[in-house]
Amino acid sequence: MTAPTCLLVFASTHGHVRRIAEAVADRLRGAGVVVDVRDVEDAPASTAGYDLVVLGGSIHAERHQAPLVAWMRRHAEGLAGRRVALFSVSLAALDPTPDGRAKVGGWVDALLEATGVRPDARACIAGALPYRDYALPTRWLMRRIARKQGLPTDTSRNHDLTDWAAVQRFADEAAALVAVRTPA
Ligand SMILES: Cc1cc2nc3c(=O)[nH]c(=O)nc-3n(C[C@H](O)[C@H](O)[C@H](O)COP(=O)(O)O)c2cc1C
Repeated sequence: MTAPTCLLVFASTHGHVRRIAEAVADRLRGAGVVVDVRDVEDAPASTAGYDLVVLGGSIHAERHQAPLVAWMRRHAEGLAGRRVALFSVSLAALDPTPDGRAKVGGWVDALLEATGVRPDARACIAGALPYRDYALPTRWLMRRIARKQGLPTDTSRNHDLTDWAAVQRFADEAAALVAVRTPA
């Protein structure tokens, strides 16, 4: 039996979504899937030939990255014929309250509404506060937001707030869409 193939397209503003995308790809590879990981700026012109497409992006000012939205819109028709899994990264995903869940769910719903893509699996994943990688104005802005939300405010270092077990669970769910085993 030939191994299933996956195209993983991501948009990452400061690099954290890229790390999550690589972790998802590693997990899928461990499950026997052949994975092609592409920044949305370098994504192929067609999704033909892939058994699974994984999409990943993050929230900035309450929206997913415009290039990801545009790519999904362009490929919605092709994606309708294949298995699709989507992950959305944000700080609001750290909020376990019903209001928090509704907020992040609403951003994903807006993305799907705007693009016409209907994923078979989806996950909202907590991101990072990489203060050292921000330009100064962004560092100040994010520190102010973080303080209001009770998140880390020490700008002398980067803060990884991702639940990596949740990333693995999402990858396993994506692997199951193409009926392959998941690693123990
Ligand atoms: C300028 C800016 C605006 C952001 N806006 C939001 C937001 O509206 N809601 C939210 O939950 N997270 C927000 N975030 C947090 C990002 O979604 C989070 O840092 C994520 O890990 C970014 O990943 P990336 O840098 O790989 O794109 C924002 C981050 C930045 C730098």
